[in-house]
Amino acid sequence: MIELKDIQKTYRIGEAEYPVLKGIDLVIESGEFIALMGPSGSGKSTLMNIVGCLDRPTAGRFILLDQDISQTSDDELARVRREELGFIFQTFNLIGRISVLKNVEVPMMLSGVARVERKARAIKLLESLDIAHRINFSPVNISGGERQRVAIARALANDPKIIIADEPTGNLDLKNSDEVMSILTKLNKDGRTIIMVTHNPEITENCSRVIRLRDGRIMENA
Ligand SMILES: Nc1ncnc2c1ncn2[C@@H]1O[C@H](COP(=O)(O)OP(=O)(O)OP(=O)(O)O)[C@@H](O)[C@H]1O
Ligand SMILES: [Mg+2]
Repeated sequence: MIELKDIQKTYRIGEAEYPVLKGIDLVIESGEFIALMGPSGSGKSTLMNIVGCLDRPTAGRFILLDQDISQTSDDELARVRREELGFIFQTFNLIGRISVLKNVEVPMMLSGVARVERKARAIKLLESLDIAHRINFSPVNISGGERQRVAIARALANDPKIIIADEPTGNLDLKNSDEVMSILTKLNKDGRTIIMVTHNPEITENCSRVIRLRDGRIMENA
């Protein structure tokens, strides 16, 4: 489903070059639940941004869902991002000036789903995540745990095959963190592939594999 071959990412600032990913080889099969761990600055988010098609590698081969991403146009990449991938972030990244409901509708809007259908689907998703009572609230006026459930509903809007979660429990207390983990575990059991960055070894018990990065390289893959 995902194949990375000798992926490198180097940032250039003026004359200086900063190699961040130094040759990542990784295969992820459909249905896996991957925990990506490693010290701060080791390149986890950089790698997630590449796998999530938010950024391109400096060198290497990246195959996603049978497509060679280095050969893919920016438009096609945007489509893949919108329809095949769902994103969950540590800081939720919801839009504060529109309602919870509209936030969940946004990805469907961008994919051209008709108004009635996208509203119905957004409500259904919010109901399934137990947050339907906050539908008309602004994300500014709900709790952190509620925000992350809205963000998960948004990530699921276009029924993606792969979920990319960068420290999804990083800003949550224990109870909400457990709840988000049980939601992710259920989504994985339902057949979605999940790649999750975390600093917390205690939440990786339902993961099928832990990958450890260190200084831009994979140290452990088991
Ligand atoms: N746009 C950029 N330009 C230059 N350097 C960058 C850029 N983005 C990230 N870096 C550098 O790349 C390195 C890896 O960053 P990255 O965000 O991938 O780390 P991380 O493993 O996700 O860390 P954390 O656990 O703190 O989130 C860091 O040293 C960072 O300063
Ligand atoms: Mg990071």
